[in-house]
Amino acid sequence: MDGALNENDISGIIEADRAHVWHHMSQHKPYETTDPRVMVEGKGIHVWDAKGTRYLDGVSGGVWTVNVGYGRESIADAVRDQLVKLNYFAGSAGSIPGALFAKRLIEKMPGLSRVYYNNSGSEANEKAFKMVRQIAHKRYGGKKHKILFRERDYHGTTIACLSAGGQPERNAQYGPFTPGFVEVPHCLAYRAHEQGLENAANYGELAANAIEEVILREGPDTIGALCLEPVTAGGGVIAPPEGYWPRVQEICRKYDILLHIDEVVCGLGRTGTWFGYQNYGIEPDMVTMAKGVASGYAAIACLVTTEKVFDMFKDDSTDPLNYFRDISTFGGCTAGPAAALENIRIIEDEGLLDNTLAMGTRLMMRLEELKEKHKVVGDVRGKGLFCGAELVADRLTKEPVAEKLAQQVVAECSAQGVLIGVTNRSLPGRNNTLCLSPALIATEDNIDEIAAAMDVALTRVFG
Ligand SMILES: Cc1ncc(COP(=O)(O)O)c(C=O)c1O
Repeated sequence: MDGALNENDISGIIEADRAHVWHHMSQHKPYETTDPRVMVEGKGIHVWDAKGTRYLDGVSGGVWTVNVGYGRESIADAVRDQLVKLNYFAGSAGSIPGALFAKRLIEKMPGLSRVYYNNSGSEANEKAFKMVRQIAHKRYGGKKHKILFRERDYHGTTIACLSAGGQPERNAQYGPFTPGFVEVPHCLAYRAHEQGLENAANYGELAANAIEEVILREGPDTIGALCLEPVTAGGGVIAPPEGYWPRVQEICRKYDILLHIDEVVCGLGRTGTWFGYQNYGIEPDMVTMAKGVASGYAAIACLVTTEKVFDMFKDDSTDPLNYFRDISTFGGCTAGPAAALENIRIIEDEGLLDNTLAMGTRLMMRLEELKEKHKVVGDVRGKGLFCGAELVADRLTKEPVAEKLAQQVVAECSAQGVLIGVTNRSLPGRNNTLCLSPALIATEDNIDEIAAAMDVALTRVFG
């Protein structure tokens, strides 16, 4: 594998990029004096940039996406074959891969039965919000329309998704936002002291009870849904504490509130189960997913609902506005489900859920070792191949390290040929959690290499 281009090609591509491409989440001023990174090729868990540098990708394409790894010819073949057969038809009609993938997906999601196709995680979440709003109009005279979201969670980049966003730095300067979205407190046990709940043995239950307090304050008859990440991703890799989920489920049922789980990062397979929520025995009403559905080989996102939710939009009323009047030109068309079908086959046939559990345990063990060795590592946490290490200047006060130091650790790993992530423009002064999410095909050697690079990087930055 050689991603290197010749000198002229490299400088031409980098110049074209510098002159014309506006990168996501990037301040471009530094590119006046440094080269932007341009990625060229990938195979397995490795990627190459335009200068031919090889990286072990510990973050699956930067944003926890390429779950089955790079260079999967069988997925590319499935997409090619489908595009030649039928590249497009509007989603008001079905398609062969759309029908087959929906059936396959639903087999993995007992209790759910309907798949609504979209392009991106943000779009899938928007559609879920629209469903909640329409249900409020159809059944509750518009009253039960509010959507609860949690501090530190992220649900996407559009204005409605940011309205449901618990990360102030993602929202800053983009308001005003959509009314009817209400925040509930986070459930990060490591920072329970900031909620006055330090040392609480039943922190999980108390964190869930805080949701009920918000519901009672707002009025249960105004709340349509609660939208949560099963394991918070960009808000700090937070696997909810023991006792949290059963209580959340109980609260939703008590007040007739739809439980919407945002699996955009955790689905499919990231936590060692098909979906993150399946670790906790909960029964959501709506589930959204995107990144790992086709591992980035084609754009696809799904909003999956119960038959009960679906039935709320199905009747023979004479009202012509009564059904879910939503459309998306490219949602579900046709390369996406074709790629997703092959992606799910690979996860199953290669036993990648078991590998994720085994490698996730190893990764967590390595992180614990780093915590033993480096006092700057205050907390390590995660689920499956989805882990975080929070860096603090003082273990006692848990004061976060300066963000630029956390970013320096990432840069020092990159200099060793290992890509890791860090919470990025999420929480003011709190973007101090290193993020790890290697492909589900990771080997023991890959995990050890990631940890070894982090060890060196932590020593270089903090001594
Ligand atoms: C939990 C979660 N939900 C939704 C989204 C938005 O997905 P997309 O970027 O595909 O719109 C993201 C993106 O990072 C995410 O992490």
